[in-house]
Amino acid sequence: TSNEAERMIQVYELANKFYHHLLLNTKEGQNALNYLLTRGFSEEIIKTFEIGYALNQKEFMTRFLMKKGFSLEFLEKAGLMIQKEDGSYFDRFRDRIIFPIKDHNGKVIAFSGRVMNNGDQPKYLNSPETKIFNKRKILYNFHQARLHIRKKQEVVLFEGFADVISAVKAGILHSVATMGTSLTEEHAKLLSRHAETVIICYDSDSAGVEATFRASKLLSHAGCKVKVAMVPEGYDPDDYIKQFGEEKFRQDVVGASVTLMAFKMQYYRKGKKLQDEADRLKYIEEIIDELSMISNEIEQELYLKQLAEEFSLSKDTLKSQLKERLAAKK
Ligand code: CTP
Ligand code: MN
Ligand code: MN
Ligand code: MN
Ligand code: MN
Repeated sequence: TSNEAERMIQVYELANKFYHHLLLNTKEGQNALNYLLTRGFSEEIIKTFEIGYALNQKEFMTRFLMKKGFSLEFLEKAGLMIQKEDGSYFDRFRDRIIFPIKDHNGKVIAFSGRVMNNGDQPKYLNSPETKIFNKRKILYNFHQARLHIRKKQEVVLFEGFADVISAVKAGILHSVATMGTSLTEEHAKLLSRHAETVIICYDSDSAGVEATFRASKLLSHAGCKVKVAMVPEGYDPDDYIKQFGEEKFRQDVVGASVTLMAFKMQYYRKGKKLQDEADRLKYIEEIIDELSMISNEIEQELYLKQLAEEFSLSKDTLKSQLKERLAAKK
């Protein structure tokens, strides 16, 4: 029932306030707070994102929430507690930094907990999907970014929590994240309803690049104009900001974002020696193939011209190649 959904939001809101308090005001939270400050998160930004800390205790949160009137059964359903066969139970989140995930109205509907020292545990542990939490639909920070997105008709899309938080700290207020690398059709539709342009700013590793290709397809399909902001290899946006500063991130990364086609051209050039004939032919074929997927004819013309000039080919030859490519598809 919707009553159950409401109670679930209540329990998440309550747990969130408590985690946040534990981080900021207790001795037990000191380590976690230091971890965040060392990463460059200010106390102000910690408050803005209501970041918290789950104590290193087995059933601390479960006991607290039971005292507030929530049953074990309900807490398990909400994904805050895990019960074993023998009836014993423990908190899902223990000794982790807590990032609250909010719905598009700003209500807490899930958590993601980060370990402070990477061991054999997964780096991030998430709430399970529940009646109120549907990963396919939620974008991290959408509720805070929404008005900025609308006003600018632009949104910057990141992979993770830290990227969004650092970007917001750097003044990029229209930032959201997919929390991992898979943007869904639902996410794409949501973004297309709020902005003309989506700037993808994923990690520079191969997973991030692959995800950029996948996301760009869904976003273009949903009617968004797609641009790509590239961080140099070896960094993700948060690392970059820490290393080179906020100003440089605004100017040299987000401010220097390129069209999707320019991103792809750069991508296909990587590892090729364009003075070698075989590589050059391969590159031209790849670009023509990409152009065959663009519906905008003006854009097609533009890149054909560019290609013709760069390799001293006639534009007509390239154009007939493209036509062949299009015909083969039908
Ligand atoms: N993620 C996840 N579970 C994991 C790893 C990642 O849900 N085991 C999600 C998180 O939302 C994370 C995002 O995927 O923020 C991007 O992953 P990754 O780039 O690996 O992590 P970072 O965001 O860079 O994390 P950090 O900077 O804290 O190390
Ligand atoms: Mn709140
Ligand atoms: Mn990544
Ligand atoms: Mn990353
Ligand atoms: Mn990171």
